[in-house]
Amino acid sequence: MKIAVIPGSFDPVTNGHLDIIRRTASLFDKVWVGILKNNAKRPLFTVDERISLIRQVTDELPNVEVEGFEGLLVDYARSKGARFIVKGLRAVSDFEYEFQMALTNKSLNPDIETFFITTNCAYSYLSSSIVKEVASYGGSISDFVPKEVEKAIIAKIGG
Ligand code: PNS
Repeated sequence: MKIAVIPGSFDPVTNGHLDIIRRTASLFDKVWVGILKNNAKRPLFTVDERISLIRQVTDELPNVEVEGFEGLLVDYARSKGARFIVKGLRAVSDFEYEFQMALTNKSLNPDIETFFITTNCAYSYLSSSIVKEVASYGGSISDFVPKEVEKAIIAKIGG
């Protein structure tokens, strides 16, 4: 059984994340979307809210499960029996940090491989931060996030 973990902050999940989750779900038998719990950043959504939003938008994907995790990503992946970490790459600017994380994770656990999926070019400019910024100034985010997420952001910060 080929099991993958897609880790991230997902604060909140965007159409770009969803595209990566869908494509990963079509390649692996089982996909765990892991939301980092002990993130130093001040999030807009709690981990439970982020889990709930991702569950709603991945409802039609039977092999995808969502949960929070603490500690090292490689330990989380091992606890799920996952030999693969999947990350989305949007642009060259993502590469340096992602490369550093992939090599660190490889050194921490050589049995786990990091796979990069290039983003759909329609979403290459998207990030959770940009979505929150646009919403905070009242701009439309309907092209950037699923409907459920749009509603949740507007309920939190207006828009
Ligand atoms: O969506 P993000 O914020 O870019 O996700 C970053 C994440 C959660 C993938 C990364 O911070 C992570 O893997 N954290 C877990 C701690 C860890 O394993 N660190 C060592 C490897 S860099």
